Amino acid sequence: MPNPIIQVQEVNKEYGRGKNTVAALKDINIEIQPGDFVAVLGPSGCGKSTLLHVMAGLEQPTTGRILLDGVDVTLITERDLPKVRAQKIGFVFQAFLLIEDLTAFENVESVLWPSEELTKQKQEEMALEVLREVDMLERRDHFPRQMSGGEQQRVAIARALVNSPPILFCDEPTGNLDSKSGEGVMKIIAKLNKERKMTVVLVTHNEELSRYARRTLRMHDGDIKSDRS
Ligand SMILES: Nc1ncnc2c1ncn2[C@@H]1O[C@H](COP(=O)(O)OP(=O)(O)OP(=O)(O)O)[C@@H](O)[C@H]1O
Ligand SMILES: [Mg+2]
Repeated sequence: MPNPIIQVQEVNKEYGRGKNTVAALKDINIEIQPGDFVAVLGPSGCGKSTLLHVMAGLEQPTTGRILLDGVDVTLITERDLPKVRAQKIGFVFQAFLLIEDLTAFENVESVLWPSEELTKQKQEEMALEVLREVDMLERRDHFPRQMSGGEQQRVAIARALVNSPPILFCDEPTGNLDSKSGEGVMKIIAKLNKERKMTVVLVTHNEELSRYARRTLRMHDGDIKSDRS
């Protein structure tokens, strides 16, 4: 077996203090292999988004460690965290979260991590390439308000891909979409897993979407209740 690309070790996450404390994650341990497609299912409030945010370094766990590619993200300084996130992680949210006054192309290009070798022309090619991958090349000059929800989500996926991270985290990516656009988005995510070999962690309360995954974790009340491959 290769080394796991994601390791969650003894993770707890508490919100609030004193008698208002909410234990959102309770002693979670998970290992995810590179190239896997994992669905995290469970009812509202069980801790799915918290788990994904903590895995992605968007929130710190109260205790425990998260290793991405062997690197402990809980130890990375505030200053270095954005770079590590850009290199290792793409994140897709239920609400798309595109920037309203940027076009599809500009939204994608805006997150490209700068480097010495990256010429302006190369940057443009990279942004266009990922827009092509989600079939949004023709809409590159359109603003979010000119696109349907499904189209906006496809641009958001392109944005998550542009730095070629090995991991794609998706939090209810079809939650705001009708079933047909939702299926289009799921097919793209499945394609990225198959063709780019991206490791996908998909959070959803929609049982049906687990058919896209190879492994299903079920959460309840901050705990992992079952883990099936
Ligand atoms: N910032 C916060 N402050 C206080 N409590 C929070 C905060 N974020 C989440 N919680 C609580 O932590 C628990 C887990 O929330 P989380 O958002 O992870 O659930 P979820 O499984 O993603 O639910 P949903 O399916 O509704 O999105 C819930 O009880 C929630 O109220
Ligand atoms: Mg959630």
